[in-house]
Amino acid sequence: MTLRLTDAEVSKFWNDRHQRESDLKSGGHVSYDEATNTMFYLRRLSMLMDRIGLQSNPVAPLYLLDAGCGKGYFSRELAKFGHQVDGIDRSEAAIAQCREQGGGPRYHQTGLADWRTPWLYDAVFTVDVLFHIMDDVEWERATRNLASLVRLGGKLIIGDWGQDNDHVFGSYQICRGRDTYLPLLDACGMRFDSWEPYRFRRSPIGFYTFTRIG
Ligand SMILES: C[S@@+](CC[C@H](N)C(=O)[O-])C[C@H]1O[C@@H](n2cnc3c(N)ncnc32)[C@H](O)[C@@H]1O
Repeated sequence: MTLRLTDAEVSKFWNDRHQRESDLKSGGHVSYDEATNTMFYLRRLSMLMDRIGLQSNPVAPLYLLDAGCGKGYFSRELAKFGHQVDGIDRSEAAIAQCREQGGGPRYHQTGLADWRTPWLYDAVFTVDVLFHIMDDVEWERATRNLASLVRLGGKLIIGDWGQDNDHVFGSYQICRGRDTYLPLLDACGMRFDSWEPYRFRRSPIGFYTFTRIG
């Protein structure tokens, strides 16, 4: 049986990886080369835009939360398009590099379960982050907190595995399935809209989309 990393070990794993790897490799797929990771990021950015909308308005920007932003690729691209983006991540190294690159988003070093704001977001998205939270209690706190930050009619977009059951991959990934996400988020007032696979190479991951209805 593969040993699971503790929460503290996962945190260290990501901070080290963000210090060591290039912009896209550190948060993308570590075995892809730069060109392949570029396509992988573009693919997911385009899927996010389908869900967030293809319009931006400088007078009334959308408020977006990139939860577990890593080195900030999605935050920067969506901010360039005119949205008001907050990027949060627990890794000190990742947030420091996000701030160095600048480009519009506001960055905060914090855990997903701990981020509080006096406003709600039009969309909260978390790309390939929740399955790295190994502790089930912490995972539930994080998921509930992200849901609580979505305005009525807003979207919650989660990158994770779309099968019914949960699945453990190696020592640092627990992919939660529909049977885990749907009842929890239903109780948080979120309507399940869809799960769509990334359809990138053999990735078993895709985006869940939920809308706040209550
Ligand atoms: C696979 S990377 C994805 C980064 C980014 N979403 C991207 O796609 O480029 C996972 C990220 O989640 C962050 N992370 C893991 N657990 C977290 C938590 N509980 N709170 C905040 N960030 C977390 C890690 O530091 C890491 O940057």
